[in-house]
Amino acid sequence: MPLARLDIAKLRNLTKIQFEPSHQVNVIVGENGSGKTSVLEAIHLLSYGRSFRSHKHKTYIQHDQAECIVFAQLKASTSVFPIGLKRARDGAIDVRVQGEKVHSIVELAERLPVQLINPDAFRLLEGSPKIRRQFVDWGAFHFDVQFMPAWRDWQKALKQRNSLLKRGKISPNLLAAFDQELIRLGGTVNEVRQAYVKHLIPYFKTVLNALSDELDVSLNFTQGWDAQKTLAEALESGVNRDIELGYTHSGPQRADLRVKTKAGDALDTLSRGQQKLVVSALKIAQGQVLTDMGRPLVFLVDDLPAELDANHRQKLCRLLESLNSQIFITSVGSDSLDFVWSDATDVRHFAMRNGELQRVAGDLNE
Ligand SMILES: Nc1ncnc2c1ncn2[C@@H]1O[C@H](COP(=O)(O)OP(=O)(O)O)[C@@H](O)[C@H]1O
Ligand SMILES: [Mg+2]
Repeated sequence: MPLARLDIAKLRNLTKIQFEPSHQVNVIVGENGSGKTSVLEAIHLLSYGRSFRSHKHKTYIQHDQAECIVFAQLKASTSVFPIGLKRARDGAIDVRVQGEKVHSIVELAERLPVQLINPDAFRLLEGSPKIRRQFVDWGAFHFDVQFMPAWRDWQKALKQRNSLLKRGKISPNLLAAFDQELIRLGGTVNEVRQAYVKHLIPYFKTVLNALSDELDVSLNFTQGWDAQKTLAEALESGVNRDIELGYTHSGPQRADLRVKTKAGDALDTLSRGQQKLVVSALKIAQGQVLTDMGRPLVFLVDDLPAELDANHRQKLCRLLESLNSQIFITSVGSDSLDFVWSDATDVRHFAMRNGELQRVAGDLNE
């Protein structure tokens, strides 16, 4: 659901801002340090319950303030739908959906799916497998309602097994009794991930092709244990090693999404610019899957002109536009994002100055 209105208070240099974004494209322009990324950070916070800049909530709460607040009205087909989040300096988090307190941030993520394309997004290729698992899991979560409960319980079962292993003095027989649940839940997690990646691949190919016709990149999901074995077999054959290591070696916790070209790993064979296109294609493909499920999402694009040349910038913007998603895009200069949108699109321009946001003319399409 798109944001029809957004209120941000006491987050970084945004003391209090309030605005009504376009359901389509929102361009935020301002000097370095004016607060552009903080607006995207606030929207991200409302979907994920955390920032993309720091895991420490104290860093984004405004200095000398006890809490920060982000509130939005989402536009449903015939009504508006308020959601809000308050984060206190002591760590307490208060999440509201239609005025009612809810206990899980998942309630927000379901209603406000958000994808981020920013300079850090390139960690998706160069970072640890955990980042790629998170990418797959975000998609799997929206793809199949079975995923989240299975994932959560599987995590618990895995932690329990690992703590038994860590304490030692555990026999393979006793461990096998614990493994029943882990195998069942881990099996579901893996099945949904596999199904999701299979579904994602053709989308990714199409999007990447639209961005660049010279790139031939494949996605390869590895489940985290020997593909010839069931999870039960992998746990059974690894039990002595697990006891020795003090943790569970094989399983969905070691899954990865490998991104490859014919010549090898994408990270080693593609230029920096090409890697950016691949990562953008992955994110847009994920958005396209959701859109086709009837669940359009919000795209946050930070500092795009700094990331891509004019030609690819235009292609990327056109793709995002075609998704029918709501877009928030930031830029230091105002001219680099002109002429990339089609005439029919509602593009709103905002100027950010010292934490103050103002809608400005320059809406070329109005
Ligand atoms: N906790 C905080 N409290 C108040 N101001 C902050 C806090 N953290 C960062 N800032 C300031 O807020 C601004 C944030 O800018 P940012 O959103 O990164 O700007 P831009 O993306 O436009 O470059 C910076 O000027 C920074 O100094
Ligand atoms: Mg910024």
